[in-house]
Amino acid sequence: MSKWTVTKIKAMKGTQKISCLTAYDYTMARLVDQAGIQLVLVGDSLAMTMLGYSTTLPVTMEEMLHHTRAVARGVKEALVVADMPFMSYHVTPSQAVKNAGVFIKAAGADAVKVEGGRFRVPAVRALVANGIPVLGHIGLTPQSIRAMGGYKVQGKKPDEAQGLIDDAIALEKAGVFAIVLECVPKTLGREITRAVGVPTIGIGAGPHCDGQILVIHDMLGFVCDDAPKLTFVKRYAGLGAAASRAIRKYRLDIENGRFPNRAQSF
Ligand code: KIV
Repeated sequence: MSKWTVTKIKAMKGTQKISCLTAYDYTMARLVDQAGIQLVLVGDSLAMTMLGYSTTLPVTMEEMLHHTRAVARGVKEALVVADMPFMSYHVTPSQAVKNAGVFIKAAGADAVKVEGGRFRVPAVRALVANGIPVLGHIGLTPQSIRAMGGYKVQGKKPDEAQGLIDDAIALEKAGVFAIVLECVPKTLGREITRAVGVPTIGIGAGPHCDGQILVIHDMLGFVCDDAPKLTFVKRYAGLGAAASRAIRKYRLDIENGRFPNRAQSF
C-alpha cells in the first residue's frame, strides 16, 4: 500500500469508511500505521494522555512538535495530521500560517487540524492558500472548554444544530479536506455528513459519519486509574490494567528474588 494523501481521504466519502486514531509517539505510531489506519492524528489530547495536564489548553507548540516528529518517524503510510495547540492559530491568519508551516516543514506532518467553524474561515483560507491541508473540527471543541462551560453534547437545540451545519458548509467552502465532528447527536452527524462534500470524521457523533476517530488511550483502555468510560468509546483492550498487573508482578519478583533468574543472567 502507498502513502495516504488528502486526495485519497477525500475520495473515500461515500465509498469506504475512514479509520482514524490518535498516536503520540514512535511505538504507537508504528502499531497504528501497521494496522492499516488511514489517518493518524497527533491530537492535543496528548496534553492529558501523555503530559498529565487537566485540559488541552496549556500544551505548547514545542510539546506538539516534539510528539509530531516522533509520530512522523513511525508512520509510513497513514496521513499524519498535527493538532495546532490553543492560541497558535487564533490571533491572525498569518500567525496560523507561520505555526502550521513548522508542523509541515520541520516536524513531518502532512496536514494540520484547527478547531472552530465560521469564525475560523480566515485562518483556514490562509492555510489552504499556502498549500497546507486543513482538517476542521466542530461540535465540542475542547480548546473552547472555558467558553462552552464543560464537555457537553453540542447542537441539541435546533438553532445550535443549524449553526453547526452552517459551520461545516463554511469550512468546506474555505477548503478543508475533512471535518471532525465531536459530540453531537447522531441525527445531526448524519445531517452534516449529507450537507458537505468532504468527509466527516466522528467522535461521539454517531454511525453516519464518513469516518471515525478515538483517542488511542481510551480505546485500548490505557488508563492509570479507574477512569470513567466515556459513552462514545468502545474499549478494545484493557492495557492499563494489564500493565499495572505486570509492573506489580515485576516488583514482587525482584523483592522475592525471582528476577533475574539463571536464564536472565550472564
Ligand atoms: O486531540 C484529539 O485527540 C482530538 C480528537 C479527539 C479528535 O482532537
